[in-house]
Amino acid sequence: MRIAVLNGSPKGDVSVTMQYVHYIQKKFPQHELKILNISQKIKVIKKNEKPFQQIIDEVKSSDGVLWAFPLYFLLVHSNYKRFIELIWENGTESAFKNKYTAALSTSIHFYDHTAHNYINAICDDLNMEYVGSFSADMYDLLKEKEREKLILFAEHFFGAIEKKLPTSKNFHPVIHSEFDYVPSDVKTKVDIGNRKIVILTDSEDDQTNLGKMIKRFSRSFSDEVEVINLHNVDIKGGCLGCIQCGYDNNCSYGDKDGYVEFFNTKVKTADVIVIAGTIRDRYLSSKWKMFFDRSFFNTHTPTMMGKQIGFVISGPLSQIPNVRQILEAYFEVNQGSVVDFITDECEDSAEMDVLLQNLAERLIQYGHEGYMKPVTFLAVGGTKIFRDDIYGRFRFPFRADHKLYRKHGFYDFPQKDYKSRLRNSIMMLLNKIPSMRKDIYTGRMKTEMIKPLQNILETK
Ligand SMILES: Cc1cc2nc3c(=O)[nH]c(=O)nc-3n(C[C@H](O)[C@H](O)[C@H](O)COP(=O)(O)O)c2cc1C
Repeated sequence: MRIAVLNGSPKGDVSVTMQYVHYIQKKFPQHELKILNISQKIKVIKKNEKPFQQIIDEVKSSDGVLWAFPLYFLLVHSNYKRFIELIWENGTESAFKNKYTAALSTSIHFYDHTAHNYINAICDDLNMEYVGSFSADMYDLLKEKEREKLILFAEHFFGAIEKKLPTSKNFHPVIHSEFDYVPSDVKTKVDIGNRKIVILTDSEDDQTNLGKMIKRFSRSFSDEVEVINLHNVDIKGGCLGCIQCGYDNNCSYGDKDGYVEFFNTKVKTADVIVIAGTIRDRYLSSKWKMFFDRSFFNTHTPTMMGKQIGFVISGPLSQIPNVRQILEAYFEVNQGSVVDFITDECEDSAEMDVLLQNLAERLIQYGHEGYMKPVTFLAVGGTKIFRDDIYGRFRFPFRADHKLYRKHGFYDFPQKDYKSRLRNSIMMLLNKIPSMRKDIYTGRMKTEMIKPLQNILETK
């Protein structure tokens, strides 16, 4: 069998993910895994019809397609995302139709599920036969048990193709609306005081719903707010994945483009950031993805501390909860406070005016009050992954992260919680006495659990 492997790593052949593909190839020499470097070659692929067509021809003539990609900011790399957009832009969806497919990723398991949801949904949109996914930690290949799993995954994939096994769709098609937003004049302006508000967008046309939402929204404020279009920021390309930034947060692009300066002077200095974009396939645009990927020069250090974050989105956001989760997670993990998402899905211009006005008011009010929304699992879970990996296996090369984590007390390991450790030791001992154990679990557990909270109620 011949499998087209769509390589999502910007590092091309020198890719961790491709070692997993090579391993499958080694174990299944009877099949040919044809690796196509998508992310690394995107500049050639998008400018030139021939290289793009060659990839599509490979897909067409293959027995199956393997999406093999590294995780990049809770999704795939921006260049891979661009390739996916090109499939529809060039009207080549039919090449993928009814092809058996599977997804293989490497990562540190930080939001690998959202990337796999995305690729699975794209496969469903392309009417492919999606067999399943395999999400490996980047060094799983070193472990025998994990290698065995990988072999079985490949076996299942090849078997599904050979036997033409049935597959199910996991994601419903997205329905786009024709609704045309007609904004009304702003009646009351929100006083922004000394707060700096930045609206970031990739809007290319003022007359789209997004363009009109941005205009209406920015007029809600008493003073001019800065609207920055990502198309006007000098971004020469996507993240190279080189990790040079690990040492001291210096991006290898250096001053070859304007991204780092833009991020440091416009994004980091803002009190309020509003992300304004349109749903494109199952995410925002690849331009937006590039914005997020390139912010990696900050490595794993939070960049949104104390900032209020709003979203103005055109398109069916509520049909793609995965996008919302990705965006919320990015800002939560970076210690920003996500205030709300406003979309054009209500299909009512007057209601949208009210919602946009209300978002403007809350972004300022919460900032004045210093109200930062409590974090959810998105940040709690994600931050623990970073904490453990930076302390442990990735202290090198991420020296800059380690320095900051140590300085700011990010290494909040539970073994440092001496009070809990002491209490645990005493209680574990008492637990060994049957009568005490009975008394604790049947008589006192519930009341003891709320005791410290009741103390607060009485004293504060
Ligand atoms: C810019 C950048 C962003 C990343 N984002 C994520 C992420 O969101 N989640 C994750 O688990 N790993 C993330 N990683 C780790 C890579 O996915 C991981 O190292 C992968 O094995 C690299 O594969 P490759 O060598 O094939 O490119 C990121 C790495 C880089 C350089």
